Amino acid sequence: MRKLLVIGIGAGDPDHVTVQAIKALNEVGVFFVVEKGGARADLVDLRKQICDRYIEDPSYRIVEVPDPQRDRGAADYHAAVEDWRSRRAETWERTLRDELGEADCGAFLVWGDPALYDSTLAVIEQIVARGVVALDYEVVPGISSVQALAAKHRVPLNRVGGAIQITTGRRLSEELPDGVDDVVVMLDADCSFRQLEGQPIDIYWGAYVGTDDELLVSGDLSEVADEIEGVRAEARERKGWIMDTYLLRRRD
Ligand SMILES: C[S@@+](CC[C@H](N)C(=O)[O-])C[C@H]1O[C@@H](n2cnc3c(N)ncnc32)[C@H](O)[C@@H]1O
Repeated sequence: MRKLLVIGIGAGDPDHVTVQAIKALNEVGVFFVVEKGGARADLVDLRKQICDRYIEDPSYRIVEVPDPQRDRGAADYHAAVEDWRSRRAETWERTLRDELGEADCGAFLVWGDPALYDSTLAVIEQIVARGVVALDYEVVPGISSVQALAAKHRVPLNRVGGAIQITTGRRLSEELPDGVDDVVVMLDADCSFRQLEGQPIDIYWGAYVGTDDELLVSGDLSEVADEIEGVRAEARERKGWIMDTYLLRRRD
């Protein structure tokens, strides 16, 4: 049966790649790279660099998988994501059938950890459920951007016995949730932290964490919000894309 590995590669620093991931990379004959085009080509390049650096036998192939367009303006966000995942499943299924031999091992290299805000596992589950291409698949965990951010700021994510919440910019509201004093925010295109200014909250912000372009700012949210917004806008303009994550911490 075809074997597929879903390998977490860390959040941008090639040194994030774990020993388990290196062993997995060396089993793979075909790497499937989802082609996003444009500035995101940087992210595809990092995957290629990781293969060059860690794989001993260079006879592997890299196959680019076209990525269907997602309707980002759709009124029903969940329906739009479901529709996009189904179209992805169909495209990936065809590519796996055509490019991966029955006895071969293929892999998707997933940014950070495959379990966190990434649709690869959900799409592969759909392919398995459709039953057209029989697959056996395994997941190799990676260092997520959340762990990388916490390490760079030298902070734990939770306080003693406390809960943490990991959420997205669009779900953040004007109050931290009841009973949660530590919230990690990802996928935020709009500096949603500004809604909480004036409250006793510290922010630990990072963009491109682990890469040569890394940016870190921390402090009292009300004092550093302008700085983060400015640094973020300038970096986004310069590079054409940005990936940032932050921890919001209610002060005792
Ligand atoms: C689609 S999610 C993928 C998350 C990934 N699976 C992980 O484990 O980190 C993309 C979001 O992850 C965060 N992110 C990924 N890499 C990052 C990095 N190097 N620095 C800061 N944030 C990053 C950003 O919030 C970005 O919007």
